[in-house]
Amino acid sequence: MDERIILTLVVEFTLNGSPVRVEPRGDESLLETLRERCGIRSLKDGCSPQGQCGCCLALIDGHAKVTCAMTTVSAAGRSVLTLEGLSEADRDLFSRAFAAAAGVQCGFCIPGIALRAKFLLDRNRHPSRDEIARAIDVHLCRCTGYKKIVDAIEWMARGRRGEAIPEPVTDGGVGARLARYDAVRTALGERPYVDDLDRPGLLHGAVVLSRHARARVRRIDTSKALAHPGVVAVVTAADVPGERWYGLIEHDWPGFVAEGEEARCVGDVLAAVAAVDRHTARAAAALVEVDYEVRQAVLDPEAAIAPGAPRVNPKHENALSHSAIRRGNAEAALAASAHVVRGTWQTQRIEHLYLEPESALAEPLADGGLHLFTQGQGIFDDRRQVAAFLAIPEEHLFVTLVPNGGAFGGKEDMSIQAQTALLARVTGRPVKLTLSREESIRLHPKRHPIRMEYTVGCDADGRLTAVKARMLGDSGAYASVGAKVLERAAGHACGPYRVANIDVESIAAYTNNPPCGAMRGFGANQAHFAMEGCMDLLANQAGIDRWEIRWRNALDVGDAFSTGQVLEKSVGIRKTLMAVKPHYDRARAEGRPVGIACGLKNSGIGNGAKEWGKARLVVEPDLTVSVYNGYTEMGQGLLTVLVQFAAEVTGLPAPCFRPKVDSTYQLACGQTTGSRATLFGGRAVVSAAEKLRADLDDGRRLEDLVGRVYAADVLVDDTTELGANVPNIKTHTAFGYATQLCVLDGEGRVDRMVAAHDVGRAVNPALCEGQIEGAIHMGLGYALTEELECVNGMPVTFKLRELGALRARDMPEVEVILVEDPEPEGPFGAKGVGEIGLVPTAAAVAGALEDFDGVRRYALPMRDSAAARAISVGRMKQAVGGRQ
Ligand code: FES
Ligand code: FES
Repeated sequence: MDERIILTLVVEFTLNGSPVRVEPRGDESLLETLRERCGIRSLKDGCSPQGQCGCCLALIDGHAKVTCAMTTVSAAGRSVLTLEGLSEADRDLFSRAFAAAAGVQCGFCIPGIALRAKFLLDRNRHPSRDEIARAIDVHLCRCTGYKKIVDAIEWMARGRRGEAIPEPVTDGGVGARLARYDAVRTALGERPYVDDLDRPGLLHGAVVLSRHARARVRRIDTSKALAHPGVVAVVTAADVPGERWYGLIEHDWPGFVAEGEEARCVGDVLAAVAAVDRHTARAAAALVEVDYEVRQAVLDPEAAIAPGAPRVNPKHENALSHSAIRRGNAEAALAASAHVVRGTWQTQRIEHLYLEPESALAEPLADGGLHLFTQGQGIFDDRRQVAAFLAIPEEHLFVTLVPNGGAFGGKEDMSIQAQTALLARVTGRPVKLTLSREESIRLHPKRHPIRMEYTVGCDADGRLTAVKARMLGDSGAYASVGAKVLERAAGHACGPYRVANIDVESIAAYTNNPPCGAMRGFGANQAHFAMEGCMDLLANQAGIDRWEIRWRNALDVGDAFSTGQVLEKSVGIRKTLMAVKPHYDRARAEGRPVGIACGLKNSGIGNGAKEWGKARLVVEPDLTVSVYNGYTEMGQGLLTVLVQFAAEVTGLPAPCFRPKVDSTYQLACGQTTGSRATLFGGRAVVSAAEKLRADLDDGRRLEDLVGRVYAADVLVDDTTELGANVPNIKTHTAFGYATQLCVLDGEGRVDRMVAAHDVGRAVNPALCEGQIEGAIHMGLGYALTEELECVNGMPVTFKLRELGALRARDMPEVEVILVEDPEPEGPFGAKGVGEIGLVPTAAAVAGALEDFDGVRRYALPMRDSAAARAISVGRMKQAVGGRQ
């Protein structure tokens, strides 16, 4: 089509009651027009142009439509309504309902869902929970598990009918169901994510990714892209002034693959473009010509570590790591065991599927420095790596966290922060770079597929005698934290059970598949799927009830964990078993198929790592208190619980605290990972708040303390390395414990999940429940429908529904039981809850499925089951065939 004709298109429509006139491209989506030309920010881009996440929903002539899937031209003459255009009464009601119900976590999905709710309630004043779940089927939420979203919509309905609804809790300390910090603005879409930020003279970036999983890059020709109208710069490896290779542990990941080097996966960045708008940047990126010499990709981890295999990454041999734990004599104990079970379990590659794709904005500062807005899980790691990339001192790079739209471990590694910063440096202008959904999936690390060979024995009473396990994980093209994931899998190999004889080894292997790294559970999920399967098999063989065999083996204070650490406090596994027992017995008595699984997960990285919690409380002139910390808010609620700690200690009202994450102070703590931010960040905030409290107790008023900075740096360095030969092994600071039940209906569908979790202390019960409900949602997908299947290192699909994350109508009833066994090393007894929520889930589902149809399943996802077939997503993968 002629470019001049495109540019003269004029489209007029009504937006939130006012006429607008825009000049879009002919193919421009209404979402792009509303966000980029009309400044509407409540609509988010989670998957355009797929139309499968619901984040871009608007009401068009009163009908709910995803605007990424329609052209602006098609909106001509029509009326477009977004959250910005609702009545103040509706906006107030909707946002209060979501805040009060704790229906907001990262919040990226919420504005779309809130508008959908309006659409529903305009037609149905009394919707049932099932009707609500079906109404929001277009919408994907990766955080909440939908339960509290449905609660919020029910409350909206009540409010619409003039009935009273619960108000958000706005003040409170430890134990309060305080509404999430900034929940109201987030629900309305007013709290900006990185892609919502704007700057005068802003340029937009785009990247060129490798088309092949393994290929030598002979030549990168940027001339056509540079000549494209509207392009300001195109950069490649040759433009990087500093250290081009980065990585959280190994520096094995190039920000750009250079000419003459090998591309190692389909997420490798070859070039980046800055242009006047995103469309132009992406169009120009498509004009970059790359001459590849395609090579045979290394795709199987076993083949990768075999002698003579091609080297995947020049910085490291293909065996990335080897972890081992040996205690006692496993072979002899197995030989003497009354019962022995064996099996090989296989888990799959999983996409994080956070709703907000990666985005960064870099802005040159007047003093020659750079301001980087990042959504990463460790802004000081981002700062360190980007500064080295640009060859500038870290002090010249100011970094601000923009709380992200979900991460789950997938935003630990750098994505496009360095490339964005380089484009800003080269152009001298602010640059924003946001990945498309496909680019996001290709680029960031996944959950490891792990093959696990287990042999487990017990005596005639069902008491465990030995565990032998061999694990091999596919870490993909880059190290990321893969070595640590396999180390954690080895450390959690025995689950929450007392085992005297252990022989466990795990290996992480490089391949040319998409990299794998941190994802919620971090190796523990995989190990528990296998170990809990062994517990079921032993129960079957020994003729012992599945709850009972777990009870007989559950860890107590004074027992040794797999790694040899003697547990001295806060071992809540028995409490969680007792909490689910009435539910288990009832299901049994009713003849319902039921599965049970236990789990534990470290809180704090441990294994010899130095860990920090750092906080600064600053009394501001407006008499608010800024709460600076070094960890990231990603929907888990960290900022809210930090406020609760500060309020609890100081006695000041919660609304006077303003949590902040930026590089004003040196608060480098590493990544927000390992369920440690509440544990260590919380301790630091408590410590700093005690200093403020002391001044207040001395009779000083806040007015007298303006400008004071209360500092606390908490160093935790008493853990020991895995396998270290030391007298007092302490591999981890703390552990969370859980027992979950999966109850099926008569058709074999998941009807109910019961999850009892030892959280130490529920600092905010509503947020704790939300974390666990959301994790169970993720765990059910892991069990039944989710997989990022790849062929020749390339994902076979980027479509959200085909990736298998469950929709609201697929979710069973979930009952969360919070158990408190206070952790002495945690603030007010708290320990992390972010990860453990799905550690036992897949195993509980596998047990229930076996109870239903007699089939023991060893591979995930268990898509051959009636439970999986009943789920509305992930069907395409069944059609193309999986392992089962
Ligand atoms: S961005 Fe439109 S449905 Fe996902
Ligand atoms: S709150 Fe729904 S995606 Fe995060």
